[in-house]
Amino acid sequence: MLYAIVFLLLGPVSVHADFSSCRLSGSNQMSATYTLSTDEIPVPGQFSASLEVQLDTAIDENVRAEVEISRQVLFWSVSVPCVGTGQGFGSCSYDDVCALLEGVTKTCNGQPCRCPISPGTYTFSNLQFSTNNLHPVIRRVARNTIFYVQIKFFNKTSGALLSCLNTQLHTTGQ
Ligand SMILES: *[C@@H]1O[C@H](CO)[C@@H](O)[C@H](O)[C@H]1NC(C)=O
Repeated sequence: MLYAIVFLLLGPVSVHADFSSCRLSGSNQMSATYTLSTDEIPVPGQFSASLEVQLDTAIDENVRAEVEISRQVLFWSVSVPCVGTGQGFGSCSYDDVCALLEGVTKTCNGQPCRCPISPGTYTFSNLQFSTNNLHPVIRRVARNTIFYVQIKFFNKTSGALLSCLNTQLHTTGQ
């Protein structure tokens, strides 16, 4: 499930290192680490990544996600709006994480990624990504920058924050 979100992020752009927690209190019900084939994501270009996701709670239709992406502009960070149709890219909300996941035809530990997804550790290796077809709005600002990415997962019924993850993406390009 986190994979779907990361896929959205990486589909256009990608990352290096771990997701850190941005919860003020309590522990995350989902955590993730990843490795990139490159320190700086080429724009345009291609790269690969591996991802490990640890789920401490099941993911079902009852989980929604909010993605907040900003980028470094001189000394400030500026929010990147949600652009594009369908899944979109940028600071987007995803009311149905399961639908999102099922739109990404990949397997979870050899099984089709279908909700509910049981707690456990999921590994995705050698994922291939390209930044060659970025949305024009993103393409204009995606080179030689740092993207700050925050992903929050909520329980739709209780409103509880399940997880808050942060990471940074460094990009390069002429
Ligand atoms: C969401 O909250 C409901 C009601 O408190 C609970 O029954 C359910 O197990 C929770 N789901 C997750 C994924 O935490």
